[in-house]
Amino acid sequence: MRAAVIGAGYVGLVQAAGLTHLGHTVTVGEVDGERVERLREGDIPIYEYGLETLVTRALGHGLLSFTDDNVEAVAGAEVVFLTLPTPQAPDGRADVSYIDQVVDELAPVVAEGTILVTKSTVPVGTAERLRRRLEELGSGARIVSNPEFLREGTAVEDFLNAERIVIGSFDRADGERVAALYRGLGSRILHTDPTSAELIKYGANAYLAARLTFANALANLAEHVGADILDVVEGIGLDRRIGPHFLRPGPGYGGSCFPKDTKALVAIAEDAGYDFELLRTVIEVNEQQPRIVVRRIDELVGGLDGSVIGMWGVAFKAGTDDTRESPALAIARLVREGGGSIRAYDPEASHPDVEMAVDPVDAVKGADLLLVATEWPEFMRVDLEQVAAVMRGSVVFDVRNLLDPEVVRAAGLRYHGWGRPRI
Ligand code: UDX
Repeated sequence: MRAAVIGAGYVGLVQAAGLTHLGHTVTVGEVDGERVERLREGDIPIYEYGLETLVTRALGHGLLSFTDDNVEAVAGAEVVFLTLPTPQAPDGRADVSYIDQVVDELAPVVAEGTILVTKSTVPVGTAERLRRRLEELGSGARIVSNPEFLREGTAVEDFLNAERIVIGSFDRADGERVAALYRGLGSRILHTDPTSAELIKYGANAYLAARLTFANALANLAEHVGADILDVVEGIGLDRRIGPHFLRPGPGYGGSCFPKDTKALVAIAEDAGYDFELLRTVIEVNEQQPRIVVRRIDELVGGLDGSVIGMWGVAFKAGTDDTRESPALAIARLVREGGGSIRAYDPEASHPDVEMAVDPVDAVKGADLLLVATEWPEFMRVDLEQVAAVMRGSVVFDVRNLLDPEVVRAAGLRYHGWGRPRI
């Protein structure tokens, strides 16, 4: 089938490359001409595992092309995926102006029956609004909602091994046409109405954020009562009704989705006349988490003022160079506010607000405390003897519970995990 993807961000690129892997021909429309030039050469502007291989292969087979002209991108396409940014407006609501502009631009040019698919996370009710807009404009285009569930860092794998594909359509025949594009995946397909599809996306992210925040709150309690949170979450997760995933405690959730989507859902609920108190609390508790971590750092170094902190990781999680809403950055800011200084190392990410070191050992030179803020597996392989030799202090504070406490202690360092008994 011939498809178009509008917006070459991480969702759009993965969607486009994934569809070519299934044998479809895809043209990507992207307003940034420089980005288009780079993509044509197979140069991927983001770090996403496996994406470059798929893009290069698709370019080689002539299945993928890029243009800075959206009208050209949709020529001949049966299905057009809108993968445009929906940034957070100052009031917490999602800004859908990019999508609105593109729908207005494409409505008069696409052939009768062309399906416009909202792929990026859009407020509940957007599909209905766009359907009315198309009617107003006299366009014969159709609207389908097909939310993405891609995690950064494993987005390609998430596309190719999708657990479910949610398709919300006003007319089942439209939904079936979109479903046909994914046939090669063998994933479970759930057909529903567009409003439910939109709420599934927000509901999934909000539930995961709440679940993780619950695990973090339990870890905070474990700190006080002397329990081991790793055993606690394992014991809880063994209940089949609960399951083991997404219970790994840490410095709080970050990234481009959870913080934005949870706030947007609170706003959506408010607009609809429902106070989503539960989710409001999740957001508040999550925002407190970096403060709790820094309070602990303060205790461990005997006062933040004048302290030197070496931090491993600035990305919001491992496997990505994304620092948006990263708890590591919030921690760094709070350490500086307390009079401490911070130097960080991250294998992929960097941020102008944080002084970056060239390697993990360099990051802890003269440090009173090593903070493990992101769970990059390679941190487990750093020579801790070298770390101990260059540090001023001897405390390792591992908020991700990544390192093996025995290995840390064997190097002559003091280990503190998060929500684990103090030994
Ligand atoms: C998320 C959703 O998983 C994805 O389906 C959606 O489409 C976009 O948002 P992503 O933002 O890439 O994906 O990150 P994810 O891997 O889900 O992690 C979110 C946050 O929770 C990160 O800050 C991560 O460090 C944290 N987290 C996750 C934990 O602290 N512990 C866990 O057990 C899981």
